[in-house]
Formats: sequence, C-alpha cells, structure tokens
Amino acid sequence: MKFLLEKGGDIKVLLIFKDTERLEEENDLFAYVKEKELFKGNVSEIYSSISHTGDNIILLGLGDKEKLSFNTIRKSFFKLGKELMKYKVESIGLTVPKFDGLCYKRTNAALAEGLLQSEYSFEKFLSEKKNKPTLKEVYLEVLADKKEKVEAGINEITSLIEGVFLARDLVNEPAINMYPETLAKAARDNLEDLSVNIQVFGKEKIKELGMEAFLAVSQGSNKEPQFIVMSYNGDSDSKDKIALVGKGLTYDSGGYCLKPADSMVTMHSDMAGSASVIGALKAIASLKLKKNVVGIIAACENMISGGAYKTGDIISSMSGKSIEVANTDAEGRLTLADALYYAKTVEKADRIVDIATLTGACVVALGNINTGAITNNEELMKDVKEAADLAGEYVWELPNNEEYRELNKSHFADIKNTGGRGAGAITAGLFLSEFVDDTPWVHLDIAGTSYLANELGYLPKGATGVPVKTLYYLVKES
Ligand code: BES
Ligand code: MN
Ligand code: ZN
Repeated sequence: MKFLLEKGGDIKVLLIFKDTERLEEENDLFAYVKEKELFKGNVSEIYSSISHTGDNIILLGLGDKEKLSFNTIRKSFFKLGKELMKYKVESIGLTVPKFDGLCYKRTNAALAEGLLQSEYSFEKFLSEKKNKPTLKEVYLEVLADKKEKVEAGINEITSLIEGVFLARDLVNEPAINMYPETLAKAARDNLEDLSVNIQVFGKEKIKELGMEAFLAVSQGSNKEPQFIVMSYNGDSDSKDKIALVGKGLTYDSGGYCLKPADSMVTMHSDMAGSASVIGALKAIASLKLKKNVVGIIAACENMISGGAYKTGDIISSMSGKSIEVANTDAEGRLTLADALYYAKTVEKADRIVDIATLTGACVVALGNINTGAITNNEELMKDVKEAADLAGEYVWELPNNEEYRELNKSHFADIKNTGGRGAGAITAGLFLSEFVDDTPWVHLDIAGTSYLANELGYLPKGATGVPVKTLYYLVKES
C-alpha cells in the first residue's frame, strides 16, 4: 500500500460525522442516503456506492464530532480497508480535514494505520486464503503546509506496523515450529540486517551465568533453552540504556501443575512478551531512533518429563536468592527473575521494562482491554502511560503496597513463586520487583491483551502485537 499526498484515486471516500445535515461540497449521494435514512454517520459505518460505470463514492462515518479520537479514526479506516477488499478496490482518494483538537500529523498517521491494520491476517496454514488485500494507492489531499510532516508520520507508522505484524506472526506460529532455537533465529533474521547485535546463549552458558531459576523451568523439555540478547546502539554519545525484557515461554503446559486441556490450546502465545520486544526493536532500528536499547529474552518451554522441575523444589537464581516452587505453572516469573537480574547487573540498564503474559489473574481483573502494570518508579510509569496513549493502547496501573509482599514469603526459601489466589497479578509483579532492586522498572502483564479469542476493533483474532507500539513510543519519547 502506497500513500500519495496529492489528489487522485478511483474511489472517493467522504468522511461524515454523525447527524451531519449538509456537506460543504454538495453531494447527490449524501443527500439521497440522508433523505432515505440509509446512513447516519456512526463510528465505522459505511455506505458504498460502487459500480462499473464510475463515479464511485464511499461514505465513512466517524461518529460524534466531539468524541472523535485517534482510535475512532483507526477503527473506522480499518473497517474501510475491509470494505475495500470486498470490492477489490485498488485505489482511493480523500481529503483529510483538520479536526478540532486533533494533531494533523497524527490524524493522517491514524487513518493510514487503520488501512494498514486491515491487511493483516495469519493464513500461512490455509490452503485457500481468505484475506486478499488489493489496495495499492491511497491518495490523500492534505494541507499544503503540513505535507512534509504528514509524510514523516506515515513513514513512521508504516514501519511501526511492520513491527506489530512481525510480533503477531511470531506469536501465531504454533509451538511445533516456534521453540527457543527458532525464536532466536527469528530475532537474527529480522534484526541483524538492521544493525542490531544478537547474542544467543545455550544451556552451558546459561548455567555458567548461574541462571538456575530459568534452567529449572526449561529442564522438562527436549528443546534447549536459549538466552537471547539483542543490542541496538543508536546513540553512541549517550550511556543511557533501556532494557526491554520479554517473557519467552514458547509453550506453557503448566508443568506438573498441568493446565486443563482448554487452557493449553493457546499457550504457544506465552512468548508474546518476547515477540513484542523483537517487533519493537525492528521498528526502533528501522526508524533509526537515536537511543540505546537492549532486548532480553529467556526462551524455553514449560513441559513435563522425568527431568522436569516439581512443586516443592527449592531452586536458586542468578541473584543468589532461593525460590520455593509452590506451583510449576508460575514459571514465567522464574525465567524473568534471571532475565531481569541480567538486565540490571550485566547490561547495567538504567531503566527496565518487562513484558509478560504472566497471570490469568490479570485477565480476570482487566479482561482483554487493559494491560496491567506495576512499578517501583512512578516517573517511568508516567512515561509508559504517555507512550501507551500515543499508541492507542491501554495500560492500567495496579497497586504495589508493601503489604502485598507478605504473600510471597516462604518458610524454607527466600521467596516463593506464588502468592495465593488473591491479587495474583500484583504478587506476580512484586515477585519480579525483587530482582531489579531499585533500578527504575515497569512490569507489563499482557496475558489479556496480547492474544484475543475474537477480533476487537482493529485487532485481529489471535495475536494482537500489543504492546509493540507502546514500547516503540516509550523508547522514542522518553
Ligand atoms: N502463561 C500463564 C498466564 C496466562 C494465562 C497467560 C492465561 C495467558 C492467558 C502463566 O504462566 C500462568 O500459568 N500463571 C498462573 C500463575 C498461578 C499458578 C500462580 C495463572 O495465572 O494461573
Ligand atoms: Mn504458567
Ligand atoms: Zn506462562
């Protein structure tokens, strides 16, 4: 799909707010649908008048003028993209007005995003493809003095969405293909050409580093664990470095605390955190952000075998803290404990953000709409929230009172890996906080937001790529 900032296109798209009585430039079709009450202008509402005789017009509703947001624009243009596919449309044109209160550059980026988002589908295993993108040219008539800015904004969102799609593809790939070594290969294949340096440690090196907690989780699987470190140094003048640490469970059966069959079906998606780090790094490196970022993934499978770890085990960790395994299904925090400690002590990151499909409790609390967040540093949390805002992704901060820490206390070890039924998303987050000490840190629990049972707005069924966009804007803007 190409965006051209000039007049043109086979099919004209008219943007219409709810309850609009008259268009500035008079239009027969609009007058007709208005009189017949065929079109109201609700968000994402579409009326298509397309025929072989030409003079083709599509009316696209944007809802209440006062409520217009970038997310309504994304959603409406996503719907438009799907509609265009039905008619195999190859080119469209529209005038982009300046909406009250909305930045013009971001307005254009949001509508471009909606159209780009409409083309995603994961169909590599289908003999017959269902989704066939046809749109080649989008002509945008934009304000003359904003052309350059709009162009930059559209280039940026195009690369960013490529990062989102990469994350989705990695997550949607079933675990029979996507295991620690292939995840490491995906990091190499997608990032090395963008001058991201990739190091991959196998079992021996992981052992040498003392990552006993990570190793314990991995030991029930035939697949070798991989510790993946991806370094992007976009700013050689600065020592500042942010670490993005992604949970990388390429499959989570629950281990001996085996999950019920239905809950296991989508557990190939338990590496969505790591996929979001790879996707964000792709965008960061493609767009050459002047920042230093390190992506870290402790990749393994949580499986059952004679060699698997068991409940009641007391294991060590890179930090030296001992951990009681109260539940083998609370494996993510064990792998992250070592990955976070590595980020702090070896990489010496100034700020750390971890992204993890960590708890079912977070899904119970926030559903699929908000990512749950916990921090030891409100300033970094503020930056994350602002980045999420730019991205149109939702992040909700959970409380972190000291009193919750009690729940993670163990009798025979320094800490245990579950805090009981109550406040499960919070105790999981506070468990992680023990391994970053006072380094500014935010934990993002994406168990609900990274993978959907049904499509939601412009997000598809399956992997969503959340929160690639938030991570990108966080790195760029803070
Ligand atoms: N990967 C799961 C969390 C999860 C649940 C992700 C649903 C996506 C959808 C995680 O490893 C897990 O099993 N957590 C347990 C923790 C419990 C044993 C303390 C959970 O949430 O049940
Ligand atoms: Mn688990
Ligand atoms: Zn898990």
